[in-house]
Amino acid sequence: MQNQLRRGYAQNIFSVLGFYFTIFTHNPLTLYRLYAIPYTLSPPLLYNGSMKTLLIGANGQLGSDINKVFSADSAYQLIPTVREELDITKTEDIQNALKKYSPEMIISTAAFHRVDVCENEPDKAYQVNALAISALAKICHAQNIILVHFSTDYVFGADKKRNRPYTEDDNPGPVNAYGISKLAGEYFVKYLSEKYFLIRTCGLYGIAGPAEKKGNFVDNIIAKSNEHKEISVVNDQILTPTYTLDLANNLKELLKTQNYGLYQFTLCPFR
Ligand SMILES: NC(=O)c1ccc[n+]([C@@H]2O[C@H](COP(=O)([O-])OP(=O)(O)OC[C@H]3O[C@@H](n4cnc5c(N)ncnc54)[C@H](OP(=O)(O)O)[C@@H]3O)[C@@H](O)[C@H]2O)c1
Repeated sequence: MQNQLRRGYAQNIFSVLGFYFTIFTHNPLTLYRLYAIPYTLSPPLLYNGSMKTLLIGANGQLGSDINKVFSADSAYQLIPTVREELDITKTEDIQNALKKYSPEMIISTAAFHRVDVCENEPDKAYQVNALAISALAKICHAQNIILVHFSTDYVFGADKKRNRPYTEDDNPGPVNAYGISKLAGEYFVKYLSEKYFLIRTCGLYGIAGPAEKKGNFVDNIIAKSNEHKEISVVNDQILTPTYTLDLANNLKELLKTQNYGLYQFTLCPFR
């Protein structure tokens, strides 16, 4: 019943906001774990205590929901940071934050993820999405800090004939600068650290909306309608949308375990 409700919700949201989701990506990437995680945790692995957790990018779309959800759970002692205090491209910012807060875990939502802009600025995409993550992973490994990093369905796409959802076992094959930079970031995390949660997600939507759009899709469309402006949205992409609050809630449970590794988190409308 609960799953049916969720499925119905996902389908409704998808039909209402489908155009918006299409702005971000074009690959159906599915995840069977989003709703499975809370029910499949193995209790002996649950973290016992209040994990000091540094959140990077706390004012972003996903970051703001992680901030809300983790701050309300006594299993975590959340320290939210924004770019002015901690810019992941500045190693000294990371070092200063580690000295100041001594976290046991770092969750980074920071990314340069405007796909079209990345295409024109591949160096910046590589700097933020790959090199900065490499530095972060190295520091986390050296200081025994758990790293939580987000990646994207854009690591797929090379197989043009693909019409099935992807799993974690599928070989990646990005087709643009954003996807290449994010995949490089993934490889650095896997190569340089051991205690990591690498979360691929897809088509995020939430109350905050993506940082660069300064608001969510619904609010922005209403604002444009009120101004009688022409509204232009993409309508030729298919993907699996993911509500940031759902992601944050499920992530909160996953991170209480020591089940490190790669996860694909999104709604699963195909079940
Ligand atoms: N949005 C999607 O549909 C989608 C899909 C798949 C995967 N993802 C991944 O999910 C993660 C979160 O995405 P989101 O939609 O929540 O993005 P978002 O709303 O743009 O939030 C990103 C946050 O990171 C911060 N940030 C950017 N560059 C930074 C830097 N150099 N140092 C420190 N902070 C920095 C931003 O701060 P400012 O406000 O100062 O810019 C913002 O707070 C990203 O890794 C993204 O690649 C997103």
